[in-house]
Amino acid sequence: METILNSVDNLVDNEKTYEQAVDILKSGGLVAFPTETVYGLGAVATDEQAVRKIFEAKGRPADNPLIVHIGRKSDMERFVAEVPEVAEQLIEAFWPGPLTLVMEKKPGVIAETVTAGMVTVAIRMPDHPVALQLLKKLELPLAAPSANRSGKPSPTEAEHVYHDLFGRIPLILDGGATGIGVESTVLDITVTPPVILRPGGIVKEQLEALIGTVHLAAKSEDEIETPRAPGMKYTHYAPEAPLYVIESDASKLEDALDSIHRQGKRAAVIGPDELHTAKADWYFTTGALDSSEAMAAHLYKAIRQCDNTEADIILAIETDQAGIGAAVMNRLDKASDGKRYFE
Ligand code: TXA
Ligand code: MG
Repeated sequence: METILNSVDNLVDNEKTYEQAVDILKSGGLVAFPTETVYGLGAVATDEQAVRKIFEAKGRPADNPLIVHIGRKSDMERFVAEVPEVAEQLIEAFWPGPLTLVMEKKPGVIAETVTAGMVTVAIRMPDHPVALQLLKKLELPLAAPSANRSGKPSPTEAEHVYHDLFGRIPLILDGGATGIGVESTVLDITVTPPVILRPGGIVKEQLEALIGTVHLAAKSEDEIETPRAPGMKYTHYAPEAPLYVIESDASKLEDALDSIHRQGKRAAVIGPDELHTAKADWYFTTGALDSSEAMAAHLYKAIRQCDNTEADIILAIETDQAGIGAAVMNRLDKASDGKRYFE
């Protein structure tokens, strides 16, 4: 299957590109498209056969459910059995945007594979002109996980999708680099207080300011009997070289690099502009030191860049947990499998 990378930079001139995407989706095919968080790999969410193709293309385990993307807030009612009161407030405040709500599903509407046989469904309305335009023209919901091969970081540029899925999908809509760079927050509102199953673009502080106490799901699946977000069972963002999280401190970083070099090894570093050091064999910057937004926006690309080096080890400089820092550190915990670098 030939993969077309189709640019939709100029929205008004690209009617044909959208028509092509809609044709592919309506005939049961897959289309990758940009959202404000990461690129998604979409199939019509009511088409069982089409949804199965997503799992094949990604190499994704079938027991990990997908997010349903909708183009209008009101579409939600078609897929949800009972809309909790708190949903109205959250939707009013954060949709379109990087907040996915897990609610009790209306049986028999969404393809079973999307929800992996669960009684709940995860829904969000993305805040990206290309995603919204596509959903508006399609007039159907799109099931879409991140458009990477399973085990790779989520794609933040069309180029990353092309790299991972070339020959496996027919079309990628290229809307440039995504803005937020980490995935949406997944919030389970079937329970009180609601539980963040995956920290993401809408941060805990924002949620609590609106609806009061919100819990954060336990980090490790060992800490809870059944993982509520099935994706928590899988190591998602494993780079090729072992990745260690290291404290944000210039002299500790240089000591670590000296020690790695003494062992005859080479290191790639992911960190802020301010900590850049010539001692690193490769240094991929994630922007200003005090900006966890910048780190979120550049993290996945930096991990992919590390995979293109000959580094024996990757050091990623930590950021604090406030705001979107929580999502960044959650992804780094996964990518490092909890490993920290100490001298
Ligand atoms: O930002 C995003 O959310 C991106 C863009 C493309 O929208 N999508 C994304 O999808 O990250 P994916 O499939 O990579 O992650 C979906 C997460 C997984 O952790 C999955 O386990 C969880 O949502 N999830 C989906 N349905 C669920 C459900 N019914 N209950 C609990 N968790 C669910
Ligand atoms: Mg993913």
